[in-house]
Amino acid sequence: MNEEIIREIKELKKRRNAIILAHNYQLPEIQDIADILGDSLELAIRAKEAREDVIVFCGVRFMAETAKILNPKKTVLIPEKDAGCPLADFLTPEMVIAARRDHPGAAVVLYVNSTAASKAEADITCTSANAVEVVRSLEATTILFGPDSNLADYVQSKVPEKTIIPLPPGGHCYVHELFTCDDIIEAADRGDVTICHPECPREVRNGSDLVASTGGMVRMAENAESWTLLTERDMAYRLRMLFPDREFHVKDEAICRDMKKTTLESVLRALRTDTYEVVLPDEIMERARAPIERMIAVR
Ligand code: 13P
Ligand code: SF4
Repeated sequence: MNEEIIREIKELKKRRNAIILAHNYQLPEIQDIADILGDSLELAIRAKEAREDVIVFCGVRFMAETAKILNPKKTVLIPEKDAGCPLADFLTPEMVIAARRDHPGAAVVLYVNSTAASKAEADITCTSANAVEVVRSLEATTILFGPDSNLADYVQSKVPEKTIIPLPPGGHCYVHELFTCDDIIEAADRGDVTICHPECPREVRNGSDLVASTGGMVRMAENAESWTLLTERDMAYRLRMLFPDREFHVKDEAICRDMKKTTLESVLRALRTDTYEVVLPDEIMERARAPIERMIAVR
């Protein structure tokens, strides 16, 4: 059954001149059919450079929107229209506007895990791979940073010379909030090197050997024999495919429900019926493009 679907996906991909981009948290069967796998920064850059007519984005909505904003002439498809990110939805454009009013002179840095309408109110965006460099690149010494307050706190620890104000306070990812110091203790008992995503709470970040974006995890994985990954479970699939001689331990409950919505069937449907095309108001796209492009210039 799956073989038949995969065969049809490949055939349609060729016929439609399409490329499949997939995030590192996608289900194994989606990772297997992707042309490009990556973290949100790598996928945004790849989407911007795509020459194909159609980009099928297997991830969550803010990622597909970023691809559309960076390469607006292409047809960008998100196979599951309800694949969202609750963290991105924490922040509204009105909250950004109000915070700016309350903090004149502050720069607004928004995590790409935000809606296009919120990005349109930002000075620059960032991902977990480049947040520290983005904040360092700014002249402003007070930074409104949202919507992930753990990432804001991580940046504050690396850039103590600036004041980072979380916007809103308490914004977090429910998947990464699952990790506790007990996970670090268990990993140490196994003799593992621990690597956590910066969306994890402060005590987990402080207890981990390393902190990295999902792309950073890929780049570091060959440096140790046995790892505990404090991030979404299917990150381990990506790493096991790349490094079969290494061990990767994960927490089984650390599942991003929205990342798991995309299936082989929905990718096939996307290519057959152009569902669901990412459509954004021109005005929002224009205004959101500048902060994303500024981020890419920093990298
Ligand atoms: P990365 O950019 O590190 O892949 O993270 C995206 C994300 O949504 C983490 O929860
Ligand atoms: Fe959003 Fe968290 Fe899922 Fe990442 S893991 S897409 S931040 S809900």
